This record gives sequence, structure tokens and C-alpha cells, in this order.
Amino acid sequence: MRKVSRIVLIGFMGVGKSSVAVSLSTLLNCPNIELDEEIVSMSGYNTVADIFANRGEPYFRQLELEAAQKLNQPLQVNQSSILVVSTGGGVVMSKDTMAALLNPESLCVHLTAPISTIQLRLEGDCSRPNYNPVTAAKRLAARIPLYEQYAQITFDTTMGPAEIIAKQLLDAVSDYSLASLDCS
Ligand code: S3P
Repeated sequence: MRKVSRIVLIGFMGVGKSSVAVSLSTLLNCPNIELDEEIVSMSGYNTVADIFANRGEPYFRQLELEAAQKLNQPLQVNQSSILVVSTGGGVVMSKDTMAALLNPESLCVHLTAPISTIQLRLEGDCSRPNYNPVTAAKRLAARIPLYEQYAQITFDTTMGPAEIIAKQLLDAVSDYSLASLDCS
């Protein structure tokens, strides 16, 4: 049995990483860090879209790396025994960022959904600068090998609401020893 102290959710835009992360942290009674939120607060801008518009994607990726590295700083390391980390869909494009996110005690979970579901979920969404309904399938196909390269488990998110997915996910990882099932 492998001890897990960090659950890292990766996957394409619209697969439900953030909502599953919230449900996981509720079930595990442990903190959840949303990497995009950390990046926004580090940037001084109000949204991810503002960062892209004003400073471009490379700057966003630099902050994404720094946000991931911050998770490992002694002063920032969470005192709880387990942490759920929800990432942005493009995090897998940087080896350095993934190296900062993953460690021997992390469990990397790739959340998936069919492109048709993603397109439905993100219809009319203007908050994601890298989402374009026309090119989404191509971008997803290009990223799948990267998600698969890092993930220890791949989990479909179309079977129900986030709470159900989170429960099913915890059942599926029962072979792993989660550092604590209750971090309170
Ligand atoms: C991005 C995904 C976004 C966010 C940024 C870039 C991407 O996160 O990090 O807009 O390149 O796939 P979500 O996956 O939460 O939408």
C-alpha cells in the first residue's frame, strides 16, 4: 500500500477538476488548493483571462510554475496530512511544473470527459482564454498523451455530479493509503 498525502487532479478544461476537488476535500475533510486561484492572487490581476490578455500565456505559465513550487516551501507546506490540488488544463505542458506538483506521496488523477460533453459544458464560457470550441478537439488530442504520461489513474467524470464522482474516485483508490481520511 502506498501512502498518499497529495491528490493532484489533472485534465482538460471542462472535465470538472475544480468541482471534484471541492467534493474530495469535503469527503476527506482536508484543504483544497486551486492552482489557478493561487496564480490569480499572485498576479495582481482579477482573472486568468486578465493575465492572458495583459501579460500573455508565458507569464501565466511562469506563475503556474511558481504556484506549484510554493506548495513545497517549508513555510507553505500545509500542516494537514493530505491536500487536494486542482490544476489548470495546461499544467502538463511544463515538465518543471509537474515535477513541483508530483512527489513520491502524490496521487495524480486524470479526469476525463468526451469532447462533446466538454463542448456542452463550456458553451458560451468566456473565462478560458485557451478554450475555443472549434479547436478544442485538436488541443485535447494533443494533450491526452501528456495527461496519460503523468496520471496514475484515469477517471471519467460523466457518471454523475461531482460528489458522486469524488466518492467513486475514493473507492477506486482504496488500494492507496490516504495519509488521513479526516484532516480535522
Ligand atoms: C488552461 C486551462 C485553465 C486555465 C487557463 C489555461 C489551459 O484551467 O489554467 O485558462 O491551457 O487548458 P481549467 O482547466 O480549470 O479551465
